[in-house]
Amino acid sequence: VDGLDEAVAVLRRGGLVAFPTETVYGLGAAARDPAAIRRIFDAKGRPADHPVIVHVRGAADLDRWAIDIPELARSLARRFWPGPLTLVLRRHPDVPLEVTGGQDTIALRAPDHPVALALLEAFGDGIAAPSANRFGDVSPTTAAHVALDLGDRVDLILDGGPCVVGIESTIVDLTGSRPRLLRPGGLPLEALEAAIGDIELAPRVSPRAPGTLPSHYAPRARVVVVAEEDLLGAAAAHRGAAVLGPRPIPGHPHVLLPEDATAAARRLYAALREADEAGYGTVLVPLPKEAGLGRAIGDRLRRAAAPREGG
Ligand code: TXA
Ligand code: MG
Repeated sequence: VDGLDEAVAVLRRGGLVAFPTETVYGLGAAARDPAAIRRIFDAKGRPADHPVIVHVRGAADLDRWAIDIPELARSLARRFWPGPLTLVLRRHPDVPLEVTGGQDTIALRAPDHPVALALLEAFGDGIAAPSANRFGDVSPTTAAHVALDLGDRVDLILDGGPCVVGIESTIVDLTGSRPRLLRPGGLPLEALEAAIGDIELAPRVSPRAPGTLPSHYAPRARVVVVAEEDLLGAAAAHRGAAVLGPRPIPGHPHVLLPEDATAAARRLYAALREADEAGYGTVLVPLPKEAGLGRAIGDRLRRAAAPREGG
C-alpha cells in the first residue's frame, strides 16, 4: 500500500491520517494518544463530548478495548467483521476518556477495506476515527472529498478509491439488557436480525419534529425529502428545485440517485456534493423504501433535511 510507512510514522508521532474504509473515509489518530484524539476534534470542528469509533483488526482485539463483553458481541464480531457494523461495549479502563467523550462505553469496528486493514496491521494498535469531514457536513467517500473538506488539517490522506458501501456503519449498543440499534447503516437491519433476532430501534428521525435535532450529514442546499408518491406534487410546489432520484422530472435539474438501494448508498454523498457544486438552492429527494440499505439512506436524508442549527 502506497504511503503506509509514512502513515504509521504520522500516527506514532500523534498526527492525523485520513484513510479509506468500505463505508466512508475516516480521520484517524492513535487511539491511546489523548493529544492526538484532541487534534481530531479540532480538525473536524466537533464538540469534545462526541465519542469516536475505535477501529480494530478484528474480534481478537475486543478485549484490549472493552470489558464485560457479552458472548453476543463476540459472535457478531466473528460473523460481520471486517464489515460495516460498530459495536458499543463497556470501555476498558485503559482507554483514554477523550476517545469516548467521557462515557464509559466504547464503539468498536473492524473496517472491511484492504488499505484500512493494512494500516491497522502495520500500526499494531487501534485507530480512533470519525468520518473525515467537518462536523455536520456530508461524509467523504473519496480521497478528493477529504482533501476538499479538511485541507491541511490532516497530515496525510491514504487514497483507496471510492468507498464501496458509501454510507456509515450500522451501530448497535450491546451494553443494555437487549441490543439496541443506535444508527442504521451499511449493514442492513435484516442481516442483523437474521443473526440475533429482534432488536430495539432507536427513535426515528423526523424532519417534522423541529428543534429536536440539529441537521447532520447536510449539504449547503436545502434538502426536502418526500414520499415517492408525493414527488410530482412537491416538484410543482418547489419550482426549479433539483431532483435527486432515479428519474428526472421535466423542468427540474436532475442529479441521479439510482433506484437500487446498494447503488444509491454508494452514490448518496457524492450526489449531495454534486448538487452543491451545481449551486442548487433546494434539492427534492424521494425517500427510498424502508428496507435493506434504504433504511440508512432514509435516515441520512431526514437528518440532512432537519432544521439547521442557528436557523
Ligand atoms: O462507518 C463508520 O462508522 C465511519 C467509518 C470511518 O468507520 N465512522 C463514523 O464515525 O461514521 P462518526 O464519528 O462520524 O460517527 C460515529 C458515531 C457517532 O454518532 C457517535 O456518537 C457514535 O458513533 N458513537 C461513538 N462512540 C459511541 C459510544 N461509546 N456510545 C454511543 N455512540 C457512540
Ligand atoms: Mg460523521
